[in-house]
Amino acid sequence: MKKIIFATGNEGKLKEIKVILDMEGVEILSMQEAGIHADIEENGTTFQENAIIKAKTIGELTGEIVLADDSGLEIDYLNKEPGVYSARYAGEDTPYSIKNQMLLDRLEGVEMEQRTARFVCVIAAALPDGRVITTRGTIEGYIGHAPAGENGFGYDPIFYVPEYRCSTAQLTMEQKNRLSHRGKALRAMKEELKVYLEAEV
Ligand code: IMP
Repeated sequence: MKKIIFATGNEGKLKEIKVILDMEGVEILSMQEAGIHADIEENGTTFQENAIIKAKTIGELTGEIVLADDSGLEIDYLNKEPGVYSARYAGEDTPYSIKNQMLLDRLEGVEMEQRTARFVCVIAAALPDGRVITTRGTIEGYIGHAPAGENGFGYDPIFYVPEYRCSTAQLTMEQKNRLSHRGKALRAMKEELKVYLEAEV
């Protein structure tokens, strides 16, 4: 059985990741399951830099294939804020009901055409031979005028998907996985890993 470690402490994310990355002969482990404890400083200025920092740091500790992701919300009218600071925006421990309201306030009076936004996810794979592969997924939408929906997490209640005429917090998990930045980046990574693993045997 080939081991792949996913460098996340977020169990919810890991569940989603295990479903999408399901491959024969491959076991996906969380850092906890792999017995690794590390506090990594995400000091990159892009999603790609942060994902690579996390994957490489854990890769160097373990010698296994290590995946890591970094994601966030870019709002065009706010010069792509909160971007890589999405989790830290207005303070890491501030509830999302407040963070979402702060963003809505900053967009007060802004017309729909100027409220464009996207969720971005970059996944990095640090391979035992020292190479790093990255994949990227995005979902385009716009920031609504009020929060809506109870599903999902984070900025989902204010992120509207035009095709579905609702927020990502109003989609089922299956619908969101099919459309989402993370789903897209993970499926692209799965294809890259298949090629790598096939070439390895
Ligand atoms: P990460 O875990 O460091 O990638 O943090 C990304 C942050 O971006 C999260 O804490 C959320 O604030 C935001 N984010 C990323 N993906 C989503 C999503 O699918 N829905 C809502 N918020 C998201």
